[in-house]
Amino acid sequence: MSVTYRLIPLINLDKTTQLQVLEIRNEDYIREWMFSRNIINTEEHFTWIEQLKNEESQICLIITDDKNKPFGAVNIKNIDKENEIAELGFYKSQNADEKGLMTKALSTTIDYSFNNLGLEKIYSEVFEGNTRSLKIHKNLLFVEEGFLRFHKVKGGKRIGVHLFGLLKNEWESGKTRGSINTEIIVTPPPPINFI
Ligand SMILES: CC(C)(COP(=O)(O)OP(=O)(O)OC[C@H]1O[C@@H](n2cnc3c(N)ncnc32)[C@H](O)[C@@H]1OP(=O)(O)O)[C@@H](O)C(=O)NCCC(=O)NCCS
Repeated sequence: MSVTYRLIPLINLDKTTQLQVLEIRNEDYIREWMFSRNIINTEEHFTWIEQLKNEESQICLIITDDKNKPFGAVNIKNIDKENEIAELGFYKSQNADEKGLMTKALSTTIDYSFNNLGLEKIYSEVFEGNTRSLKIHKNLLFVEEGFLRFHKVKGGKRIGVHLFGLLKNEWESGKTRGSINTEIIVTPPPPINFI
């Protein structure tokens, strides 16, 4: 039986749900693999949400079920309209055990970015050793474009950063071959005229 989730812009959620998103973002496991690892406080969170309302270079989408319960986020950031590119960031609560949900949510976000936002390329950076994220990028047809050796400090150790890129034409011609769970449905956010 298929399960349906939605991608809703963070700025459109009520305050209670926005706070639940903050709790997820502050989970230890998520912070371990993010580039900014500090705990975010409530004031910083709501200030950031206010900024997002007038922000043209970033869209934060929250994965929710049909009761608006949040499970994680997909962030389309550093949107560069001139060069038609953007960076992808994402995280999912450790309390959500739906296998393949993030891969499916990203697949919907990629379609949305290419077809609605008018982007031609999406890129992302992944810490060395982030096995799940590396697997997701491969499943979603991202190409590894580089590896920055000993580039960041994580837990007192220097580690590398993988650089991934996905072109619109590669996605359109290959997406049906990707390993994406068809039992999970993730509906996209409402279309906007962006570029
Ligand atoms: C990365 C993250 C979103 C993945 O969430 P998830 O629920 O495991 O995502 P999915 O289930 O869609 O896919 C995970 C893939 O990794 C695989 N995987 C899960 N655990 C694994 C492990 N320990 N080793 C190797 N592969 C693993 C899964 O099998 C799946 O691949 P498959 O579909 O080919 O089977 C989640 O772990 C997270 O939020 N991590 C912290 C934040 C983060 O790393 N964000 C990305 C920054 S680049």
